[in-house]
Amino acid sequence: MNDLINFLKTRRSTTAKTMIAGHVKESDLNNILACGIRVPDHGALNPWSLTVIKDNARSRIGKEVLVPEFILNNPEATEEEINFEKNRFLRASVVIAVLFRPVSHPKIPSWEMELSTGAVCSNILVAAQSLGYAAQWLTEWYSYNDRMIKEVGGNPKIEKLAGFIYIGDKEKEPVERRRPKIENVINILTK
Ligand SMILES: Cc1cc2nc3c(=O)[nH]c(=O)nc-3n(C[C@H](O)[C@H](O)[C@H](O)COP(=O)(O)O)c2cc1C
Repeated sequence: MNDLINFLKTRRSTTAKTMIAGHVKESDLNNILACGIRVPDHGALNPWSLTVIKDNARSRIGKEVLVPEFILNNPEATEEEINFEKNRFLRASVVIAVLFRPVSHPKIPSWEMELSTGAVCSNILVAAQSLGYAAQWLTEWYSYNDRMIKEVGGNPKIEKLAGFIYIGDKEKEPVERRRPKIENVINILTK
């Protein structure tokens, strides 16, 4: 089995909860981003954009966006919950937000643009994991928050967050999770 197939068959996400914020090498980050934007994209419309949240931006967005929006939606929030929001992005070394930006096109449906956006997220995730980083794709509550969409340059009326890819260091190798049984999800037609 070649190395790529072996990696794809065994890779696992490491939860943001268990990853360690450390350092992502600049060259690694550039490679991860290059893989992220090299995806199938019908019509080469680039119906997505990426925002890299790193260094002080992680705590700034926590303070300026996550905390006030969380309190707005949870007026009874405890101090512990508010602190969690403030530090949410600090769970990772780098967080990459992937925004779906549909383009008006006479033939290519928006659905295909959504699929391409999912591929961007997958490629970022897999590229980061292939370099040995802990990585996880999360939407959580703030992917559906208009102010967060605006923070990454989006228009909440027409654009959506496909999620945030958290990238950090691994404390330990994640254990395997439940996987589908091949016969339950794969059909093979021969005639
Ligand atoms: C679009 C999308 C959104 C997700 N959002 C969350 C989330 O908000 N919270 C969560 O615990 N897991 C979420 N997950 C699942 C995690 O990424 C989970 O770690 C992953 O399914 C593990 O799979 P893997 O080991 O095959 O990479 C999401 C997955 C996808 C595809």
